[in-house]
Amino acid sequence: MKRIPCKVFAPATVSNIGVGYDILGFPIYGLGDEVSINKGKTKGLVLKGVRGNPSIPNDIMKNTAGFAAYKVLEKLNLTEEPIELVLFKNMPTGTGMGSSASSAVAGAFAVNEYLNCPLSKKEVLDCATQAEVIADGSFHADNTAPSLYGGFVLIRDNPSLDVIKLPTILGLQALILYPHIQILTKDSRAILKEEVSLTDHVTQSGNLGGFIASLYKSDLNLLGRSLQDVIIEPQRAHLIPHFEEVKSIAMNEGALGFSISGAGPSMFALCANTSIAESIKEKAAKLYKKSKIELTGYISSINREGAIRY
Ligand code: HSE
Repeated sequence: MKRIPCKVFAPATVSNIGVGYDILGFPIYGLGDEVSINKGKTKGLVLKGVRGNPSIPNDIMKNTAGFAAYKVLEKLNLTEEPIELVLFKNMPTGTGMGSSASSAVAGAFAVNEYLNCPLSKKEVLDCATQAEVIADGSFHADNTAPSLYGGFVLIRDNPSLDVIKLPTILGLQALILYPHIQILTKDSRAILKEEVSLTDHVTQSGNLGGFIASLYKSDLNLLGRSLQDVIIEPQRAHLIPHFEEVKSIAMNEGALGFSISGAGPSMFALCANTSIAESIKEKAAKLYKKSKIELTGYISSINREGAIRY
């Protein structure tokens, strides 16, 4: 088997997209984690370093990049292969932007690329998603799948990783607002009720169907009508300071929809153009400045490529 030392990038993602808890997501440009991979000096996989975040453990089994990379080698019976990985952790953890998934996808994707792609994309996805379990205790691909595949992605079924790539509407812009507080996904999942009322189920199913149809029809108006989460957002909004105020700002400025990105604290808006996204970002920054919480805003079109090798 040929060996190709390389560096890879796996983008940050917005999962759930309001109406698809655990089953919808999209990646953005300009933010994500990287992994470089080289031949090692000793048998087996070594995580040689984590750059950019000293709190991330170097232990392969406790780090989503290392764990996902190991799972690829395990699938191929190559756990003795001498390999050195370095993780460039470019984003903080507990942000709601799929930080653990970016590392996991970068780790699994890098090893597969290094070995000249013996595994299919779906097998790489399986390895990356297994690493999500060490991050938050659940096997859900709504961050890993979009980070790996690019574009809007629907996970029809998480256990079997039945993943469907959806179309993107030309010109659609995402704004992500990240208030600098940390919410751990496992905590944000733990507060969710197990039961959903029949009325909410009907509303949310209609909105999920409408959202997906809007992508196929390139219908921004339908997308806007559909982007309303009646199940998860009402249970998590209180974890995010100023959520309702920022949502009002976003909707008044003309966002198509606004909700929580992943498990929070980040929030996202989908907008018809960048000037709407810019004005929401500016007004939200003023609001957070008053309460002395730092806020970072990212504006991006929908990343179509997903993980890439340099
Ligand atoms: N679907 C997940 C959640 C995304 O909302 O808990 C966070 O990883």
